[in-house]
Amino acid sequence: MIHAILNKMVAVPVSLLAWVDRRFPITKMWNEHLAHYYVPKNFNFWYFFGSLALVVLAIQIITGIFLTMNYKPSAAEAFASVEFIMRDVNYGWLIRYMHSTGASAFFIVVYLHMFRGLMYGSYKQPRELLWILGMLIYMTLMAEAFLGYLLPWGQMSFWGAQVIVSLFEAMPFGIGLPLAEWIRGDFTISDATLNRFFAYHVIAVPLALLALVAAHIIALHEVGPNNPDGIDINDNQDDDGVPLDGIPFHPYYTVKDIVGVVVFLIFFFSVVFYAPEMGGWFLEHNNFLPADPLKTPEHIAPLWYFTPFYSILRAFTYPFLGIDAKLWGVLAMGFSQLLFFFLPWLDRSPVRSIRYRGPYFRYALYSFVLAFLVLGYLGVKSPSETDLFLFNNTVWAQIFTVVYFAFFLLMPWYTKMDNDEDRPLPARVTG
Ligand code: HEM
Repeated sequence: MIHAILNKMVAVPVSLLAWVDRRFPITKMWNEHLAHYYVPKNFNFWYFFGSLALVVLAIQIITGIFLTMNYKPSAAEAFASVEFIMRDVNYGWLIRYMHSTGASAFFIVVYLHMFRGLMYGSYKQPRELLWILGMLIYMTLMAEAFLGYLLPWGQMSFWGAQVIVSLFEAMPFGIGLPLAEWIRGDFTISDATLNRFFAYHVIAVPLALLALVAAHIIALHEVGPNNPDGIDINDNQDDDGVPLDGIPFHPYYTVKDIVGVVVFLIFFFSVVFYAPEMGGWFLEHNNFLPADPLKTPEHIAPLWYFTPFYSILRAFTYPFLGIDAKLWGVLAMGFSQLLFFFLPWLDRSPVRSIRYRGPYFRYALYSFVLAFLVLGYLGVKSPSETDLFLFNNTVWAQIFTVVYFAFFLLMPWYTKMDNDEDRPLPARVTG
């Protein structure tokens, strides 16, 4: 009797699965992308950040939906509606702090994810398109963060947007002013700007982001992931064509990634509960004041994840070749991100992983990371003050801007100088 009941209970889901399988390839997809998807067995700490980026994306979308339920996208009501969410909506403070902390967490996770790519040469053949899709995600993410920052309609929201949109005015041939006006929908940042930024932030850009992330994962599964040794696990296969150094993604990495997610969430919620402003780095002090178009704050600085590029923008202080300093700054800022797209072709070394590459590349990468961090620090400081030593902040920004660009522009030369083709690579993945 009991047997008969148990058999029925098992049989229903099995036959349901078979029913679905005949109509939708669910088992086939599960096997292709999880259970029979063989990935290198030597993934380390740096391989947590892709799945963490997915987790943060989910947090942002879910908390964003709940914020939208009480937020008012109008210049007259936006600031007060955020205060209402913080004080009166049930758990509104939690939803809002998760969303604001999530924005910074997104960039921390994505910067570490990109740094892993640089270390292990994950942008190299055959993963060029995967890298380019990643860069498109990154640019879209920056747009998303910038648009979202206007919504609370605080002093920094208003003046930050004012500064950034007015950068478009530097465009030559008379297109600058009309372009900036077209973006704002007005002569200054206004209710019309807030309305359109809201539309972009809650639907247009997230849709693009989701589509790009889907394309990123499809490209990843097409070429297979790289690994910390940068060698191809398919070079050593057993008789069934299974890579000897590969393990099925599920259950091995699903379980491992859960550990990463739990550790991440501990850090994430520590910030949400105990330091949501993070000393002004995650939520700027000035943004707790309502936007006032008649009162410019003393220092206007974007949030930390934009500041390396803001420093590059401000490092250009002289007109040159008949082009004014502002336009040079804007061009340099755009170029500083564009260069990332070309990494697969700028890097001439045949070796992927930093573990088996020469000193030139290593020191270039360390210098680049230092330049990125220092530029990030200088971006929140006043350009005329001296916060480091010897020189004022502008001079240091100029020095590190040179280091930043040298990393990319000299790459074809120094990656050849390393003569990596003469260095031995392991036949199988190590530890
Ligand atoms: C929302 C943002 C992103 C999400 C959700 C995401 C997701 C993922 C996932 C799940 C993986 C596989 C797991 C891993 O290798 O950690 C991955 C791999 C990869 N991603 Fe992303 N990614 C994002 C942004 C980026 C960006 C901005 C770049 C670079 C510009 C990038 C470049 C790569 C590369 C090169 C790989 C393969 C790395 C390797 O196998 O060594 N991704 N991504």
